[in-house]
Formats: sequence, structure tokens, C-alpha cells
Amino acid sequence: MNGQNMSGQLEGQVALIAGAAGGIGSSIARAFVREGAAVALLDRPGDALDALEAELAAAGARVLAVAADITSASEVSSAVTRAATHFGRLTSLVNAAGILRQGRVDAMLERDWDDLMAVNVKGVFLACKYAVPVLKAAGGGSIVNLSSVSAFVGSDGSFAYTASKGAVLSLTYGIAQELGPHGIRVNAICPGWVDAGFTHQAMRSAADPSLLEQQARDAHVLGRMAAPSEIADAAVFLTSSRASFITGTALNVDGGFMIKR
Ligand SMILES: NC(=O)c1ccc[n+]([C@@H]2O[C@H](COP(=O)([O-])OP(=O)(O)OC[C@H]3O[C@@H](n4cnc5c(N)ncnc54)[C@H](O)[C@@H]3O)[C@@H](O)[C@H]2O)c1
Repeated sequence: MNGQNMSGQLEGQVALIAGAAGGIGSSIARAFVREGAAVALLDRPGDALDALEAELAAAGARVLAVAADITSASEVSSAVTRAATHFGRLTSLVNAAGILRQGRVDAMLERDWDDLMAVNVKGVFLACKYAVPVLKAAGGGSIVNLSSVSAFVGSDGSFAYTASKGAVLSLTYGIAQELGPHGIRVNAICPGWVDAGFTHQAMRSAADPSLLEQQARDAHVLGRMAAPSEIADAAVFLTSSRASFITGTALNVDGGFMIKR
């Protein structure tokens, strides 16, 4: 970090991280802890969530796993309540839960469309719906939503994912308008290809994984994919007081993906 001491940027913050057990979400959780935040980890119940909670607790973090299905209003509501009760308040929310479903428009299964919209769009709405009253009670805060460069560019077989990430951007702008007067900033991050999570899933199912990996690298001006920690650093920045006048913004963390188009 250029020799600067950048630790402690989130000192005093209590963050709810949705999708915390995932490739990007877990990197965000680790970065938030490193910067001094307490973290509530929301994800589906399972070993990955338990292991992350144990890892962070062993490192001395103030951490609580709140297992929930992000598509269930009652589960998200009770996860937010558990987190806020445990830590006494919430000051920030990161929405990094998501799924990938692919298919061309004339072949896409209705069920895949519904699942995609339920997790990627409704999930963000529900997390905001239940976290916002708690953020207001804390006197303000920050919401960061994971969108994607896919919000701006189509690709073969990804129209539904693209639509879901476009919806996340629109939702970000709308909620930012509503919450500005309450001192709550709302921003989105648009990564290109990240060397984690979805990308690894796509590599595993690709006919030629090394070709896909090369294409993923070549898609960026910087000639490589993002490390998940580079997305996490952007989430730290947007959540921190250093971004105190930034709201309603989509931050491309894309290694120049967009300017190659
Ligand atoms: N990996 C990339 O290249 C990339 C690029 C741009 C944007 N993104 C976005 O970043 C976010 C994280 O992606 P990732 O690559 O880390 O994927 P990931 O699959 O590793 O993480 C997603 C997490 O969401 C959780 N999740 C899914 N459905 C859920 C549900 N119903 N309830 C609760 N949790 C649920 C999963 O369990 C998982 O832990 C997604 O929103 C994705 O769209 C990823």
C-alpha cells in the first residue's frame, strides 16, 4: 500500500456482509476485519460459512454467522435482527450474494430466470429493506452492492444475469436517492472477471478451461483478472469515511474491461 498505514479505516463499524462465504464476500469479510470492523456473515448455512466464522474468530475478530436464505423475507429479517442485537447496531451492509444462470433467451428455463432474479435482485432488496431501519437508528451508514460490468455489456447466453446486474445498479441509484437525507450512502461495485467464485465455477464447467482463462485475462486492459482482495479494497473504500461524499455511484473495478469495448 505504498508504505502508507491504511489499517483501521473501518474502526467502529459493524457490517452485515451478505454472500460472505463466497469468493468475493469472504475476501470482503477479511478486509473489513483487517480494517477494524465487526462483521455479521450472512450466507446459506454450511461448512463454508462456519469455517469463515471460525477463521475470523480465531484471528480475534468480532464476528457472527447469521445463516439465512437471502430470498426469504423472514430469514433475512431475523438475520438482521440477530446481527443488530448481538453487536448493538449496524453501520454498513455489503450485498455480495449472487448466483449465475446461463442460457440464451429462447432456451432459458423459466425456473433459472426466477432463481436468478430471486437471489440477485430480490435478495438485495430484502437485505436493504431490513437493514435500513437499523442503519437509520445508527444515524447513517453505507450500503455497497455487487453489480458487474455485465450490467453494461451483453454476452452470449448471459442476458438474464446481465439483466439482474443492471437491476442492481438501478436499485442502487433509487435507494441512494431515498437514503441520502438519512446519511446513508449507497453505491455499487462493477467488477470485470474476478479470480474467484463465479469465474472458478465457469472454468470448471468450460469445455476448454485454459482458453476461457486466457479470454478472461485478455478482456482487461491490465491483462489479468482481479484478485478478490482488489474488489474487497473497493468495498472498504466505499464503506469508509474516505468516501463520505460518494453516493449513487457505480465504481468499475474492472482493470479497464469497459474501455476495451
Ligand atoms: N466472480 C466474478 O467474476 C464476478 C464478477 C462481477 C460480479 N460478481 C458478483 O460478485 C458477487 C459474488 O460473486 P462470487 O464470484 O464471489 O460468487 P460465489 O458463488 O463465490 O459467492 C456468492 C455467495 O452467495 C451465496 N448465495 C447464493 N444464493 C444465496 C441465497 N439464496 N441465500 C444466501 N446466500 C446465497 C453463495 O452461497 C455464495 O457464498 C455476485 O453478486 C456476483 O454477481 C462476481
